[in-house]
Amino acid sequence: MMPIELKPLFNLESMRREPKFTNGFYQQDILSVDQFDRDMLSYLFTRSLEMEEMARVAGTCDLLKAYTLACVFYEPSTRTSASFIAAMERLGGKVIPITQGIQYSSVSKGESLIDTMLTLEQYSDIIVLRHPEIGSVARAAKYANVPIINAGDGTGEHPTQALLDLFTLRKELGTLDGLRIAMVGDLRNGRTVHSLTKLLMKYDVSLRFVSPDVLRLPLNLMNELIDKGINVRETDNVQDVIGDMDALYVTRIQRERFADLAQYEEVKDCFEITTELMQQAKEKMIVMHPLPRVGEIHYNVDKDPRAAYFRQVQNGMFLRMALLASVLGQA
Ligand code: NCD
Repeated sequence: MMPIELKPLFNLESMRREPKFTNGFYQQDILSVDQFDRDMLSYLFTRSLEMEEMARVAGTCDLLKAYTLACVFYEPSTRTSASFIAAMERLGGKVIPITQGIQYSSVSKGESLIDTMLTLEQYSDIIVLRHPEIGSVARAAKYANVPIINAGDGTGEHPTQALLDLFTLRKELGTLDGLRIAMVGDLRNGRTVHSLTKLLMKYDVSLRFVSPDVLRLPLNLMNELIDKGINVRETDNVQDVIGDMDALYVTRIQRERFADLAQYEEVKDCFEITTELMQQAKEKMIVMHPLPRVGEIHYNVDKDPRAAYFRQVQNGMFLRMALLASVLGQA
């Protein structure tokens, strides 16, 4: 596989452009990966590489100096919230973080999601929102007067994670068309799996879905894949597929989504990527994970250069810088 060509795109002046509407998505909510076509994705990845270069050369800039982001998380988060905050700050913007203590906000007094949005938009130009209920972020966006970015709505979607996952695949493997990717773990509840699968459908890929029977990919997604003619196969054993893959996308079994905890106990330890298992993988295969991990990847694997999950974390910040700039009309 050819390494990715990193074009030297960084130019501070070019980052001060007037709002652009061609490929940019000015003043628009980001609710689902369905909003993106291949041109928009490639535009976003180019901008993300520029952001990476800017961060490397200058650390920060003042592209979003005039803007404030409200970061509102009704579910726990480390990476998504921190990387949106880091992204905004590296672009010179300000942040209102309601991330670690929603219990201290008026939500605990019974304030509705909509009222919380209508309040926060008085202070901010854009809102990043995570909420446990499917469809809640879209509902908030209907009422809010500033762009809303979906940072995860229950078991629904997590579009910005999928964008950074796709960006990582492209960067690490040099291409998207032709890739063979295995998704491993909780494919039923994992919103990152749902969003990434939808994005990968736009490319010529082969997908393997590895999970215990009770955690298989939702049927509607599987049917969509089949309708699109994507080469798919399901199995419950990583060993069946690992030797043939360009990427493993490993996910955690999502304890909090199980109605029946006894069922969680039955499946919680069903996979572990170990150094022994990695010996069966291609030399250029990469291992990704949206994180947090809770035992699916042994810590010894971290030393393997094919372990891409912390590089993936950093890519998330660059991608979110590009996305924030685009949505605010500054890219
Ligand atoms: C994921 C999420 O919140 O959906 N984490 C993340 O955003 N990086 C995955 C998970 O919780 O398992």
